[in-house]
Amino acid sequence: MIVLGIESSCDETGIAIYDTEKGLIANQLHTQMAMHAEYGGVVPELASRDHIRRLVPLTQAALQESGLQYSDLDAIAYTQGPGLGGALLAGSAYANALAFALDKPVLPIHHLEGHLLSPLLADEVPEFPFVALLVSGGHTQFMAVRDFGDYELLGETVDDAAGEAFDKTGKLIGLPYPAGAILSQYAKLGQPETFSFPRPMLHSPDLQMSFSGLKTAVLTAVEKTRAELNLSPTDTLPEQTRNDICRAFQDAVVDVLVAKAKRALLQTGFRCLVVAGGVGANWKLREELANLTVQSTPKGQLERVQTYFPPLPLCTDNGAMIAFAGAMRLQHKVAQAQRAGAFDVKPR
Ligand code: KG4
Ligand code: ZN
Repeated sequence: MIVLGIESSCDETGIAIYDTEKGLIANQLHTQMAMHAEYGGVVPELASRDHIRRLVPLTQAALQESGLQYSDLDAIAYTQGPGLGGALLAGSAYANALAFALDKPVLPIHHLEGHLLSPLLADEVPEFPFVALLVSGGHTQFMAVRDFGDYELLGETVDDAAGEAFDKTGKLIGLPYPAGAILSQYAKLGQPETFSFPRPMLHSPDLQMSFSGLKTAVLTAVEKTRAELNLSPTDTLPEQTRNDICRAFQDAVVDVLVAKAKRALLQTGFRCLVVAGGVGANWKLREELANLTVQSTPKGQLERVQTYFPPLPLCTDNGAMIAFAGAMRLQHKVAQAQRAGAFDVKPR
């Protein structure tokens, strides 16, 4: 079974081909990051127009990379949502037209199902069931994943997503959009605990999270530091101060994600954790989760958790995860694949 996957939900156009016998045989990506950087965020109209420009050339490049013809494709999978309306429409119209012209089935895939399954594209593959932490610019949620198509939402952020908090905090200290990757590099150079930021909802007895208050705490710290150093609001912060703020901010986000991950593992009884989405590229989060242990009772044994991360290039948006999700739906004959809105998350 050979499936072409199309991702166009935000500012990345991804086209990939997954073969259920050979694995990922093509993976083409164009990022619009540079185009949106000067606006400090994604401009939806520009994003849609750029997807339209890129879809055909990227498909041709993917076919060339895999050595296949259009006629070799068995199905076309595309990101149905969530995402920017116009951007999704570009991918959906293209996928449906291509499938119609080739007389092949078209598979609408939920963007988060793509992220959720992306760790299965790694060399070392997790086994069901597992807890998935989806942590991107648009989402921060925990899911119980029992099988292909069997997902249960356990808890999520009540306001900003963790990636969004990275981006907004980055903007406050003058970093370009999207700020996550660069902010975490500065954090590496920062002294821990020079600044201290709150860990919202850390002790709430559920899997809900909140990250919107953090940027306000950072803003207060930035203003206080500027006043102490006699800097004007337009002056840049001294490098070490900036790095220390980045460190404290990152530590606060990671502490919350790690604590909630433990809670999700204890609640489900699963001992396997899969991390997906752009923030999954964060070094500190990877470091903490790679050595995770849980304790079912206060005096119980420490149990090791197996943690899986997608390969770094598959953490952010890409076509590979969509091609893979489509191929798995076909291969495992997941019934919902035939209809729209196939990603059935069952809230508690
Ligand atoms: O999954 P993704 O590519 O797009 C969606 O949001 O769906 O994730 C992008 C998000 C951005 O908010 C970006 O700042 C964040 O992931 N990000 C990071 C890192 N790399 C990307 N956040 C923290 N640390 C990183 N290393
Ligand atoms: Zn995404």
